[in-house]
Amino acid sequence: MDQQKNDIAVIGMAVMGQNLALNMGSKGLKVSVYNRTSEKTKRFVEERAKNKNIQGTYSLEELVNSLKTPRKIILMVKAGKPVDDVIEELLPYLNKEDIIIDGGNSYYKDTDRRYEELHKKGIRFLGTGISGGEYGALHGPSIMPGGDESAYEEVKNILEATAAQTEDGPCVTYLGPKSSGHYVKMVHNGIEYAIMELIAETYDIMRKVLKMTPQDMSKVFKEWNEDHKSYLMEITYKILEWKDEETGQPIVDVILDSAKQKGTGKWSVQDALDLNISIPTINAAVNARTLSSIKDERIRIGEIYETPTEMNLDESFINSLRDALYISTIIAYAEGMKLLQVASKEYGYNLDLSEVARIWEDGCIIRSTFLKPIQRAFKKDPNLVNLIISDEFKSDFKKKIPNLREVVSQIKKAGIPIPSLSSALDYFDGLSSKELPANLIQAQRDYFGAHTYERRDKEGIFHTEWQDIHNI
Ligand code: 6PG
Repeated sequence: MDQQKNDIAVIGMAVMGQNLALNMGSKGLKVSVYNRTSEKTKRFVEERAKNKNIQGTYSLEELVNSLKTPRKIILMVKAGKPVDDVIEELLPYLNKEDIIIDGGNSYYKDTDRRYEELHKKGIRFLGTGISGGEYGALHGPSIMPGGDESAYEEVKNILEATAAQTEDGPCVTYLGPKSSGHYVKMVHNGIEYAIMELIAETYDIMRKVLKMTPQDMSKVFKEWNEDHKSYLMEITYKILEWKDEETGQPIVDVILDSAKQKGTGKWSVQDALDLNISIPTINAAVNARTLSSIKDERIRIGEIYETPTEMNLDESFINSLRDALYISTIIAYAEGMKLLQVASKEYGYNLDLSEVARIWEDGCIIRSTFLKPIQRAFKKDPNLVNLIISDEFKSDFKKKIPNLREVVSQIKKAGIPIPSLSSALDYFDGLSSKELPANLIQAQRDYFGAHTYERRDKEGIFHTEWQDIHNI
């Protein structure tokens, strides 16, 4: 009897859920689907999912009963309360050992909580990041599962068939316990924010300083992408040559310069701060979106202050810009990998960072040519201090950092904000500074708050009586 039942279910029939179901159906899996509003399910099974191994169900009970045991159910619903709501509604129909996979961008602390609650009830839970947008969901995303390892073993074949395929294997692996999957996806998104911002700043320099047209920029990004082989660069050059249907203008000129965000980038930064990890390029990218969104204030302030005069740059500047984008992109990955390395120890995820890089090689939004050397670097040395000093990237840094420095110093004179490019350089300069002015900070702290300091010449904790407290 069970054999006639379906292999897996997808709950949530927005485009990501639909595409994931279609992807699974195309791999010969039998898929049940459900959506809170039945109309959506009905339309999907009658149209896009017709003859595709996909069965519509119209109650959660029907959905659960349509599945082989242990049941495997993927939630593709909005992160936050909707995930808790669906789990609660599902629970009465589930048996011990059944498996829930949350495929949304859930906050990792929510995933830990859900894991614990479900574990107590005998339900197995996999918090799973899925990257690749609508296209990826349909043709092969990067899948980042974490949580119950025995549950992973049960769904391994399904996820491997569904994921993007590379010569190094399918873009999925069991990442680790608890919220490790959603944590890895969160950091993936932090890196995504940074690379997007670095490309956007480069575009801003091209239009404001080099006075290039979107079409010209498109050609340049296309050429540069021969080095990056990056999905984000690829969509950039496609966007830049795209014309708005209504006006015939380049569409990028028609779109309002006010960026939105759903939270994953911000969570990366918040958590990095909690873990005492510096990820300034990612941080700057989050801040840049926030600042962009106060368009009215920017207009008011921009009316008061003039932008600096035009600049004269020689022809080699565009090559410096090419190197600046290249090397700062590697810095974005370096920051993200560092955060993962520390979080893995702190939260007991036991992540294999070379495997993380491997499953990002294809399918996901940050896929690029850099993932293979990142994978190699962490394979050779899982405790690598920083990608910046890996054999894979050392010569790139030696060659290209001077050009990042050239770009940042020149563009600062033009008054164009380049928060991520300059933060990437500051990150590099900070990390490679044997001497920083933190000695003075320590003295200041000790002066006003008796916070003590350490000395260079002997061990111990010291305090100076800076002021005569009786005479203040
Ligand atoms: C992915 C993306 C995706 C993310 C969107 C929107 O890997 O497919 O990261 O999961 O939700 O890109 O994110 P923002 O609205 O925060 O930009």
